[in-house]
Amino acid sequence: MFISIQEALDKGKGKASIHGWVYRERKQKDMVFLIIRDSTNIIQAVVKQDKVSKKEWDDSNKILIESSVEIEGELKQDKRAPTGYEIQADKLNVIQFSETFPINKDQSPEFLMDNRHLWIRSRKLTAVMKIRSTVMKAFREYYYNNGFNEMAPPIFTPNACEGGSTLFEVKYFDKKVYLTQSWQLYAEAAIFSLEKIFCISPCFRAERSKTSRHLAEFWMAEMEAAWYNLNKLIESAEECVSYIVQKVVKENEKELILLEQDIEKLKKIKAPFPRLKYSDVLKILKEKEKINIPFGKDLRTIEEDLIMKHFDKPLIVTHYPKEIMAFYKPSDPKNPKEALCFDMLAPEGYGEIIGGSQRDLDANELKKWLKKQGEKPETYEWYLDTRKYGSVPHAGYGLGIERVTAWLCKLDNIKDAIPFPRTMLRYTP
Ligand code: 4AD
Ligand code: MG
Repeated sequence: MFISIQEALDKGKGKASIHGWVYRERKQKDMVFLIIRDSTNIIQAVVKQDKVSKKEWDDSNKILIESSVEIEGELKQDKRAPTGYEIQADKLNVIQFSETFPINKDQSPEFLMDNRHLWIRSRKLTAVMKIRSTVMKAFREYYYNNGFNEMAPPIFTPNACEGGSTLFEVKYFDKKVYLTQSWQLYAEAAIFSLEKIFCISPCFRAERSKTSRHLAEFWMAEMEAAWYNLNKLIESAEECVSYIVQKVVKENEKELILLEQDIEKLKKIKAPFPRLKYSDVLKILKEKEKINIPFGKDLRTIEEDLIMKHFDKPLIVTHYPKEIMAFYKPSDPKNPKEALCFDMLAPEGYGEIIGGSQRDLDANELKKWLKKQGEKPETYEWYLDTRKYGSVPHAGYGLGIERVTAWLCKLDNIKDAIPFPRTMLRYTP
């Protein structure tokens, strides 16, 4: 029976059978050293000429990196081995002799991107994908634990949720529709049946900006809840983010170490998070950073990074200018120039990880802002129905899975937070 490499390392002695891929190989006169990897870890294996059959010895000398193998042997502690143990092979079965693997050290990021289908095996991407998986699991767990239902949104849609400029148009039989930017409009209809809902779904935006934070296809984790106001929404978001971070700390210690992330720092990410109004952010930027942003301008990457110099926990920024917000974000009755919305900014320059708001309940306001933003209110009739039949206060937010993964994994670029990135310039492999 095969055990995983991690199980073999935990066992530490006695016989074991493992299978995996050759990560490194070093051939000597009467010994071949192999480092074997599987999804769980790596282990050193040694094949000695006098311990195996002639065929096994000949095979071991033909092995190249990424060959798939089965090895049976004796586990021994060995301080020189990369993970502290070695398996001394009695049996070696090569499942497939790999051709020369195209990826070796010192390759350009573009080459690695072109060979993403192979680079996905790297220890770095394996670690990132495990953490990403924990992020998604933790989001789901948090909302299931709080009485939410998972709801499946459509991906083809006739509407823009986040503005027409970033829509992807697709041929739909002989009509044209768009790929979804967010589940939100559908979520606002579904709360009338389920009240508290969430989803994790792909979202598409034709972002023309070539930044380290934008993908054309990304995954958003979203929640929507009837009867929630802005404050309750923010509490839910900060609790959920704390839950995600602590889950990753607990389940992915090995991966965080491999990625050289500071675990102690992550342990401190616990709710509540500091909160500021957008107008207070402008004040801090003026006083401490000597930059003058007039009320009504969106915060750009550079301003987000400057404000985050002053915080080591995520920051909640509320009350952005109504004028520059999506049509569904309502004015604050106390100050109509401000919207009842928030963004959550991650520390260390990872930018906006969450955007959310209370929802405007006034159909006339919604129509007015849709028109102002160049949309045709007629195509939103179905959505406006949600304000006609027992409308209730409600709120929701969306969390960028790749943004959170990039932050927790300390990645230079969001492209490494998704297995097969899609950007303006990249749609292969
Ligand atoms: O702030 P956004 O645009 O909000 C919405 O779409 C709302 N309808 C969500 C809701 O209330 N249900 O996007 C939410 C989050 C951002 O904070 C960011 O983390 C991520 O989605 N995001 C992107 N991530 C990667 N690439 C892109 N192009 C992204 N655009 C948004
Ligand atoms: Mg946003």
